[in-house]
Amino acid sequence: MTSLALFGGRAVRQKPFATWPIFDDSEKRAVLEVLESGAWGGYSLKVPELEQRFAAFHEARFGIAASNGTVTLEAALAATGIQPGDEVIVPPITFIATATAVLRAGAVPVFVDIDPLSFNLDPKRLADAITLKSRAVIPVHFAGHPADLDAIIKTASNHGLAVIEDAAHAHGASWRGRRVGSLGHFGSFSFQQSKNMTAGEGGMLLTSDEALAEQARSVCNQGRRTGGAWYEHVRLGTNYRMTGWQAAILIAQLERLPRQLERRARNAAILTEKLKATGVLAPPAVDSRVTAHGFHLYVLRLNTEALPGISRDLIVEALAAEGIPGVSGYPYPLYANKVFASHPYLCRQCPEAERFCRECFWVSHEILLSSEADLDDFIRAVEKVRDSAAELASMPAKATR
Ligand SMILES: Cc1ncc(COP(=O)(O)O)c(C=O)c1O
Repeated sequence: MTSLALFGGRAVRQKPFATWPIFDDSEKRAVLEVLESGAWGGYSLKVPELEQRFAAFHEARFGIAASNGTVTLEAALAATGIQPGDEVIVPPITFIATATAVLRAGAVPVFVDIDPLSFNLDPKRLADAITLKSRAVIPVHFAGHPADLDAIIKTASNHGLAVIEDAAHAHGASWRGRRVGSLGHFGSFSFQQSKNMTAGEGGMLLTSDEALAEQARSVCNQGRRTGGAWYEHVRLGTNYRMTGWQAAILIAQLERLPRQLERRARNAAILTEKLKATGVLAPPAVDSRVTAHGFHLYVLRLNTEALPGISRDLIVEALAAEGIPGVSGYPYPLYANKVFASHPYLCRQCPEAERFCRECFWVSHEILLSSEADLDDFIRAVEKVRDSAAELASMPAKATR
C-alpha cells in the first residue's frame, strides 16, 4: 500500500510555502504618495527616480522604464535599428516574448540551442548561426543564471551584432562581478507579477550608451526627443510609458531586492546540497563565473536513469500532491509554438532544448524565501516520491501525459 498523496495518502506538506508578491507599508505609502501628488501617469517624478535607482543598482548609466518586459525588447530592437528581414539570434528555452519581439520588428528569429548545464544560449553554437543578415543576439539569463556574456559578447562584437540581454529573470544577478543587463548594448527587465521585483506589470531597459538610451526613450514616448516640444515627434514611436503607480511600488521593491537575493542564494545552496543526496533530481548547476544568481526559478532535471518510466510531468504531479508546487515548464521549445507556422523563423538543431522540455521543471523563487524547515519538507517529499517510484511508474498514462 502506497502512502503517496497522489494516490490518496497524506501529503508531506500541509501548509503553503511563502507567497508572492511580498509588500509592506513602504508600498502602501508609495501608492498613496502618487495618489496625492496627482501625477499618476508616465510623467510622475517616481518614474525617473526608479530609472536612476535601478540603473545605478545594475551599474548602467541609463534606465528607461516601460509598461512591461515585452515592449522593452521591442523598443531595444527598434532603437538598435533592426529592420524587416534582419536575423536575430535567440535561445529556444525562454518565454515567447523573446522571439515574438523579433517577429514584431519584422525580423527573423534564429533559434540556437542551449547549454545543458546553464540552460542558456550555448555560445559555442553562436558563430555557426551568424549569416550576412544577422544583426543582433538576445541572450536570456534563464531562471536568473547569467548567460556566458564573455563568449557571447566576444562573438557578437566580432560580427558586428548588437547584444540585447533579456534579463527578465535576473534582477540583481551578476557575471564575474558585473550586474547583468549592463554588459550588452541593452538589458531588458520585466516587473510582471511573478518576477523577483514586481508592480504587477512593468519593464525597464538599461544601457550605458547615451545615443541608444535616447533612441529607446523616444520609441517608448511617441517619438519625442529629450528637450523637444510636446508635439514634436522625430521618429516612429508609441506609448510604452510606465505609470507613476508602478514606479513607486518598484522603488520599494528595489529596496528589498538585495536581502531577498541573499536569502534565495542561501536557501538555494541548502536545497542543492540536500537534493544531490536524493539521487533522483539534479539541482541547477551554477557556472563558477556567476557571482550572483537571480534564482527567479530553481530548475531541476529529472534523473531518468534513477527513475525509469516516470515522466517529468508525472513527478511534478506527484510532488504537487505532496504540497510542493513545481511547474512542468515549457511543453516544447519555443519554435514548436503554432505562431511560427505563420511567421518566418530559422532553427538550428536543438537537441538540448528538446531534452530540457522532457526532463526539466522548476519551482518559483518564493520557495527560496521560505525557512529551512520548509526546505526540509521539500526534500522529504522528493524522498517519499523516490521511495514509491515503482508504484508511480505503474500508474496508467494520462492521455495528456
Ligand atoms: C525571459 C522573459 N522575457 C520577456 C518576458 C516578458 O515580460 P512581460 O511579461 O513583462 O512582458 C518574460 C515574462 O515572463 C520572460 O520570462
